[in-house]
Amino acid sequence: MTDQASNLRELAPAASGKASMPLRMRCIAVGSGKGGVGKTVLSVGIACCLARLKYRVLILDADLGLANVDLQIGVEPQFTLQDVVHGSCTLEEAVVSVPDGPDVLAAASGAPELVDMGGARRQMLADDLVQFAGRYDFLIIDVGAGIGAGVTTFLGAAPEVLVVVANEPTAIMDAYALIKVLRQGTNPPSLLLVINMVQSLDEGERLAMRLNAIIKKFLKIELPVAGIVVYDEVVGDCIRARQPLIHYAGQSAPAKCIDELTRFMISDLGRARSSKPAGAELFDKLAGAGLTLKPGGTAAQ
Ligand SMILES: Nc1ncnc2c1ncn2[C@@H]1O[C@H](COP(=O)(O)OP(=O)(O)OP(=O)(O)O)[C@@H](O)[C@H]1O
Ligand SMILES: [Mg+2]
Repeated sequence: MTDQASNLRELAPAASGKASMPLRMRCIAVGSGKGGVGKTVLSVGIACCLARLKYRVLILDADLGLANVDLQIGVEPQFTLQDVVHGSCTLEEAVVSVPDGPDVLAAASGAPELVDMGGARRQMLADDLVQFAGRYDFLIIDVGAGIGAGVTTFLGAAPEVLVVVANEPTAIMDAYALIKVLRQGTNPPSLLLVINMVQSLDEGERLAMRLNAIIKKFLKIELPVAGIVVYDEVVGDCIRARQPLIHYAGQSAPAKCIDELTRFMISDLGRARSSKPAGAELFDKLAGAGLTLKPGGTAAQ
């Protein structure tokens, strides 16, 4: 167990059972209609940039199908979120601290079990998660791709969602489909676009305009663009080196784009988007992570 995790444990108050306690931390979930568009790269990048700015950050891998935050950030956690859900370890034991970086709560990839832990235990875990997350300034959640029920109920419970879009043939329609589903809830999250893997900022702006034209026509809204991140092969190199981009190639173009995106998120403009408090609903979904994991890694809620 790390020093920081020990400190957290010392700070942790006795369980209060108040899962709906308002949190001062900001919770940003990262999703996409299409897979492989850079959600994990961006989640890790934003978490590292925020940590470098001295915020207390927890990055949580909620991609229960293809969990790989730990790989991209270069840590080897002994336990995962599913171990916490199953009661094999405490939250503090599962969290790994990255030196000068965020804390990481990893997930197991595609664990096919179905475990019924019962409503009382689920509530206790949701309470624990609220208490625990309350120690952080930011909770960044890397969520799986797609518009399946597991993913969208989870994203829908987050206060802020970054919808990642790359310039690929079906990207616009996949992103539109996700945005449409997320807008259907009673208290939908604030949605922001992030354009990734474009050759230039101009290309990114054109892609955002095309997407916004479609969602304006059909959903009568336009989404702000939180950032545009350019394509650079160094991103693949840093994943192979198992190092976050800002450590591996901090001066590279995509690292600078992610830094700018992070600064937008903490600017008055980015901050104003956050309206819905992170509380019981989101943590209940998290607490159910092991409960409803289906073979193949799709979490159904
Ligand atoms: N800005 C970028 N420049 C170059 N390559 C990138 C960039 N962003 C992401 N990639 C590459 O795209 C691939 C997918 O990235 P990543 O794993 O972050 O996507 P994802 O959306 O999390 O995927 P999944 O849906 O499987 O979870 C990686 O191999 C990474 O190297
Ligand atoms: Mg991913």
